Amino acid sequence: MYVCSCFGITEQQVREHAADGACTPRQIASASKAGTDCGSCVRRIQGLLGRGTCPRRELLDKGAPALVAETQKAPEPQDEVAEAA
Ligand code: FES
Repeated sequence: MYVCSCFGITEQQVREHAADGACTPRQIASASKAGTDCGSCVRRIQGLLGRGTCPRRELLDKGAPALVAETQKAPEPQDEVAEAA
């Protein structure tokens, strides 16, 4: 079922973003744009997040960071030269 009709975002997609660490409507908006047009879906998104959709909520309450960026190893300069050759 669609939560955000402006961007075609479903309840399932909101849950997936929440599972990935988005625990506020703003973070859901950053991940999917949901709530950034007419805004009529924001309360519904808040409702979904408030019903245990976000498994990291407990960690947040304990002071853990909301989102953890994945880091990739930067390519070695020699790798870039090898690719260019
Ligand atoms: S329904 Fe989500 S921004 Fe309009």
